[in-house]
Amino acid sequence: MSEKPISEKNLAYAFAAESKASARNLAFALKAESEGYKQIARLFRAVSDAESVHAQRYLRLMRGKIGSTEENLETAFHNEIRANVEEYPRLIKDALEEGFDGAEKAFSQSRDVESRHADLYKKAMGHMLEEREADYYVCQVCGYVSEGEAPDNCPICGAVKGKFKKIQ
Ligand SMILES: [Fe+2]
Ligand SMILES: [Fe+2]
Repeated sequence: MSEKPISEKNLAYAFAAESKASARNLAFALKAESEGYKQIARLFRAVSDAESVHAQRYLRLMRGKIGSTEENLETAFHNEIRANVEEYPRLIKDALEEGFDGAEKAFSQSRDVESRHADLYKKAMGHMLEEREADYYVCQVCGYVSEGEAPDNCPICGAVKGKFKKIQ
């Protein structure tokens, strides 16, 4: 048992809230950009980044959330598998039942992408000691991660090469 259960719970709450605020501000930035408000987009990006600083800070204070890199790879791998086999299938089923095509498509593509993420983590676990150099490119439509170079078309959503962002 944790010694300070209320603070522990509040850290978890604040982590979730700030993570959401960061993502939401980023979406607001993209919208502002598309409407031609460059400076306001910049402001949304800055605050998004700041909320992310808060979220990371809280996560570091939460007990047992960040382990060694070996443990973190294991945790990340299992989270992807759970999303792939348990969480997304449930969400997909609900979306199908309600006939919400957009949500069904987004959930289905995410489910497929999560198994790709799991594969990449698995591969990394096997190579921890001989750190290979490889670039990663992320599909900005569905989240597919490509290793080495960006494909001509995303294997999950079909997006063109230009939709891939190189991770620094
Ligand atoms: Fe994932
Ligand atoms: Fe994609």
